[in-house]
Amino acid sequence: MNKKFLDLGNQPLANNYLSKFKKKQIKYKLKLFFNTKSKMVSISKRIPSEMMFTNNYPYRSSMSKTMQNSFYELSLEIKKKFKPKKILEIGSNDGALIKNFNKSEAIGIEPCRNLAQITKKMGYVTYNNYWSHELAKKIRLKNEKIDLIYSANTLTHISDLNEVFKSISYLLSSNGILIIEDPSLLECIKKNSYDQFYNEHIYLFSAISVNSLLKKFNLEIFNIKNLETHGGSLRYYIKRVINKKITISRNIKIQIKKEMIFGLHKFSTFKKFSQKVEKSKVKLLSILNSLKNKKKLVLGYGATAKAVTILNYCNINNDLICNFVDTTPEKINRYMPGKNIKILKYNPKILDKYHYVFLGAWNFKKEILNKEKRFLKNGGKFITHVPVPKIF
Ligand code: TYD
Repeated sequence: MNKKFLDLGNQPLANNYLSKFKKKQIKYKLKLFFNTKSKMVSISKRIPSEMMFTNNYPYRSSMSKTMQNSFYELSLEIKKKFKPKKILEIGSNDGALIKNFNKSEAIGIEPCRNLAQITKKMGYVTYNNYWSHELAKKIRLKNEKIDLIYSANTLTHISDLNEVFKSISYLLSSNGILIIEDPSLLECIKKNSYDQFYNEHIYLFSAISVNSLLKKFNLEIFNIKNLETHGGSLRYYIKRVINKKITISRNIKIQIKKEMIFGLHKFSTFKKFSQKVEKSKVKLLSILNSLKNKKKLVLGYGATAKAVTILNYCNINNDLICNFVDTTPEKINRYMPGKNIKILKYNPKILDKYHYVFLGAWNFKKEILNKEKRFLKNGGKFITHVPVPKIF
């Protein structure tokens, strides 16, 4: 049974950065549910993928050093431990992972045409398609089965998880490995980072829910790693149950136990989370309003999809955060969805014009603070809402 625990109000499509100021915008209800049987957390309203993953999709994995390094490290590990002849990435984005492999070794799948074109130009076989059973069949006709399938921050965007795993199981060789990584529900609840929820993020996985989901497909997790990326992610290493050559790490039991102790299997945990979210909104608004009263200027750093959830849930307009700044070409000179706050092109001096910087990309806090030492030295201050709204 699906039980509602949080209502994040009406939200625009998170990655639909506007080319011009628009007073009236289409918004969709964003409500969060917990399934008491599968223990899966999901959003209620499913927007057709074609409306979200357009041919001009603005999110690029290569925009931060943190993500580039994470993909590079993983590529080394994959080559050393699994030595795949062929690796396939579902949601290859701008090639941040596959560029670390030879062109003959890696295949990308990317439904957004602008991104698929990037890896095609780099010389990688790229299917400009959504992941589906039909596509798996097409790839199988051209290739032997695949030894390693990888997907980061993508499977949680696909409504039909049965189709997702059925198709993966169809294409994966008998000793093949599946690696998936996505934001961790445990970290999200612990950090009160409710901005992990937006219309693209249909699910937020936990080891508990993934473990139970995989059983249907005769797949199992054999290792699990906690990552710092995206504000705390889990990387799941998965194999077929029949493959007994690989031993199952204790890490899985440890992670599941951690999640159970925290109560991720209980609805009451999510109800408590929703109360904390409401408090977080009140506190953030009180900080921003008091800065406005003191005539201080606030800049948003990182025009993230996460920030779109915050702006629209908390009703933050450009009187509270004047502008955002971002390095992504597709976002520059556009406006934050739902709130019409203009996104400016990043340059190190731009921060000098503002007194405070709100971390839209709080998940890159280390990288950003390191880059913006001068702003801090000159008396500038940051604002974050994670885990509680504060100035620092
Ligand atoms: P991310 O947190 O991955 O996004 P989302 O919530 O949209 O999934 O996106 C980080 C954004 O911040 C991305 O648009 C790039 C931008 N960014 C900068 O502009 N400068 C930086 O130094 C960093 C690290 C990120």
